Parts: sequence; structure tokens; C-alpha cells
Amino acid sequence: MPHISILSASVRNGRNSHRVALFFKRFIEDRNMAEVDLIDLLDYDFPIFHERLNYLPSPSSQVIEFAQKIRSADGIIIVTPEYNGGYPASLKNVIDLLTDDWKRKPVAISTCSDGVFGGSQVITSLQFSLWKIKAWTVPVMFPVPNVQTSFDGEGIPNEPEVIGKRASAFMNELLWCIEARRSMDLK
Ligand SMILES: Cc1cc2nc3c(=O)[nH]c(=O)nc-3n(C[C@H](O)[C@H](O)[C@H](O)COP(=O)(O)O)c2cc1C
Repeated sequence: MPHISILSASVRNGRNSHRVALFFKRFIEDRNMAEVDLIDLLDYDFPIFHERLNYLPSPSSQVIEFAQKIRSADGIIIVTPEYNGGYPASLKNVIDLLTDDWKRKPVAISTCSDGVFGGSQVITSLQFSLWKIKAWTVPVMFPVPNVQTSFDGEGIPNEPEVIGKRASAFMNELLWCIEARRSMDLK
């Protein structure tokens, strides 16, 4: 079974996009789609980037553990809010921190906002940064508008059927890319 890590990018006080990370964790577990863990950037609370991990003389155990989680995941779901039309500094902080760990990693992106556009303006800048670091961005979207009302604090959607259909389509693409990568690695 593949291993998927969900990277929850928001570290804001009173954040709401984390609800979507909680939703995906449960969605994947309930359907036995993959082994899944949550990488919560709020828990890590990394200092602002000073240098890439490979060049840090004495990296913290947290940084090493984080890198190991990204490296060992077969695929990653990034759940990110939109801040001023882009993705948050907390996320750029950890994209830049690593190098080869992102390479050829299937990454599916879910964007969130408290407005009607679901944070979709994040996609171009985030995809570009991930492409630069050689991740494989999965060509699928999961924008979440009105995140503060469309999911409760535990990540339960208020329209489970609609959200479930969209989440299934999203997961199918990610799982297909994970399998494609695995079959190429076997050759
Ligand atoms: C600094 C900042 C900038 C924001 N910029 C946008 C924006 O450009 N577009 C938008 O739809 N929402 C914007 N929002 C609102 C977020 O969509 C909202 O906070 C949402 O709940 C997702 O982020 P969260 O996980 O921090 O709660 C912004 C919020 C903050 C704190």
C-alpha cells in the first residue's frame, strides 16, 4: 500500500485550512486507500530559512525528521491557504529547505480560502516552485472556498457527497501518479 503524507501548510493563529488536511486524512483512512500521516507545519514551527538542509552544519532533529518524512512518502498532498494571491511563507520555508527529497515526488495540491475562489490563485506560483525543485505536480485541483463554513473543526464537510466525489477524483489522480512512479522505479 502506498504511503501518503499530508502537508498542512498554515501556521496562522486560528487557521481554518487545517480542517481540509484533517478531512483528507480521514477520507484516505476510511477507504483504506493508503497509509497516511499528517505533517503539520504548526507542530514543527521551523525558524525562517537560513540554508538548505544539505548545507546546515548541525541541523535540528526536527529538520532531519521532516526531511525523512518527505523523502519516504510515495506521494504528498499539500493543503495550503492563499495569502495575498500566493502561498504562505511557512510553505516556501520547507520547499527551499530540501533539495533531492522533492525530486520526482508526486504532489497533489489543495488550496483553501475564506472567499469564493478557493485559493486557486496559489496554483501557478506553487506549481512553479515545485516544478523548479523537480517535484511531480499532479494535474488535479481541490480548491476549497469558504473553508471556515464548508468544513467543521474536525474536518467534517458540510456537503459530504459533493466533497466526497471531488476528493475521490483528486485521490484517483494522485494514486495513479504514485503507481506510475512506482512502476518506473521497478524497471
Ligand atoms: C495574510 C493573509 C492574506 C490573505 N489573502 C487572501 C487572498 O489573497 N485571497 C483569499 O481568498 N483569501 C485570503 N486570505 C484569507 C484566507 O483565505 C483565510 O485565512 C483562510 O481561512 C485560509 O487560511 P488559514 O488556514 O490561515 O485560515 C488571507 C488571509 C491572511 C491571513
